[in-house]
Amino acid sequence: MAYKINQAEQVRKAAFEHLIIPVRPWDYLHTPEGFRIWVKGEGVRLTDIEGKTFIDGAAGWQFGVAGHGRTEIGDAMRAQIAELVITAPEYPNIPCVNLATKLAELAPGNLTKVSFCNSGSEAVETALKMAKQYHVLNGEPTRYKVIGRRGSYHGVTWGCMSVMGAYKNLFKDFEPTVPMGRWVAQPYCYRCDYGLEYPSCNLLCAREIENHITFEDPLTFSAVIGESISHSSYVCPPPPEYWPMVRSICDKYGVLLIVDEVITGFGRTGKWFGCMHYDCVPDILDFAKGITSGYIPCGGAITSPKIAKKFEGSVPFTNFPTWGGNPVSSAGALANIAIIERENLVENSAKMGKRLLDGLKGLLKYPIVGDIRGIGLMCCIELVADKKTKAFFKPEQNVTERVFTKMEEKGLLAREFGTNVLLTPPLNITAPDIDKIVDIMDRVVSELVKELGY
Ligand SMILES: Cc1ncc(COP(=O)(O)O)c(C=O)c1O
Repeated sequence: MAYKINQAEQVRKAAFEHLIIPVRPWDYLHTPEGFRIWVKGEGVRLTDIEGKTFIDGAAGWQFGVAGHGRTEIGDAMRAQIAELVITAPEYPNIPCVNLATKLAELAPGNLTKVSFCNSGSEAVETALKMAKQYHVLNGEPTRYKVIGRRGSYHGVTWGCMSVMGAYKNLFKDFEPTVPMGRWVAQPYCYRCDYGLEYPSCNLLCAREIENHITFEDPLTFSAVIGESISHSSYVCPPPPEYWPMVRSICDKYGVLLIVDEVITGFGRTGKWFGCMHYDCVPDILDFAKGITSGYIPCGGAITSPKIAKKFEGSVPFTNFPTWGGNPVSSAGALANIAIIERENLVENSAKMGKRLLDGLKGLLKYPIVGDIRGIGLMCCIELVADKKTKAFFKPEQNVTERVFTKMEEKGLLAREFGTNVLLTPPLNITAPDIDKIVDIMDRVVSELVKELGY
């Protein structure tokens, strides 16, 4: 469908009049790049109202596993709507039972019992509440503290804000948060919080968790939470021993391990879930985004029979979002998972991810590319002012804005966190499009190097 210029203007005007638009500063929204209206998605591409097409290198907000324009997901939901939409958490419906059964098959280890909700934030809340109530029902009501990691993002709700460590400014206006959070360092080896190097560090970032637990009373700790591989903390796949170490610390003190797979689930890292790269099965795994590729909200937490058993007595799990496990989103999720399986998108993520990472490593020839990291189709380019010292750019150099303007001019969308460029395209991407992304990034960095006078 073609849109006229004045339609774009009308939408823009009405949006400013009637929406509270988050994320971007109001002034920036009024610049040409600051406000885009997407009108069409197809495969790995998005088109805006002015007719410009981009490679969706961020898969929306990392949820687009199966890519855009999958009408069969819509068809499955439409068929379900024609059949039944009634939902109430205490009456399981057939699609939600089928979805839980499928998830039990896909999830690692003994994670076979699902509690559904509607988003990543709710999935994290579900996991936090499940851990807390498990301890209460297990006779240890004093356990309430949760150890998160600096740099981790877990969602928008108060519970999520209280355990995440991403960007203080995301929650500083909402203090006090729930007094349960404690924080340790990320396994971010390129910029280790302790100035140590792997492997001689003997993973102090993991050992710190034990220090926290023993310094305070171990019986006050409910859970440790972390993304299997953190996107918000610039895609640092932890060393192989990291998660097994965290797992054994949790076991030693009866603390539950929650792994947040909201971004890393459903093939993003080249396996169904990110924790499957490690010899570690969490007690609770939370998921959302990729389960429906963004076609409809759906999320949840999956746990072991041992934990779920506690909710099979006289006190059921006290968490029941009205739309959790509704038949329409469950039907959409099942259709999405069928596409992932039929088109081998998890394998494609591993294969194309390697091609992307290998291609991006070519950028290390430039003096401002400090590090290239990735796993599956989740990659990060870390830009630095000085490769040796890893110094950051000066704010007045406007590097982030310049990089993003250049990428968009060349038809590529990605996420930026500071001067880290994060690439997470849909998992159905092909080799020619991977090569296009690499070529665009090469041109972006080469222009920037010249402009900055290196
Ligand atoms: C790791 C992680 N957990 C949780 C969330 C929250 O998900 P949602 O935005 O669906 O509430 C996000 C969102 O980006 C996320 O990246």
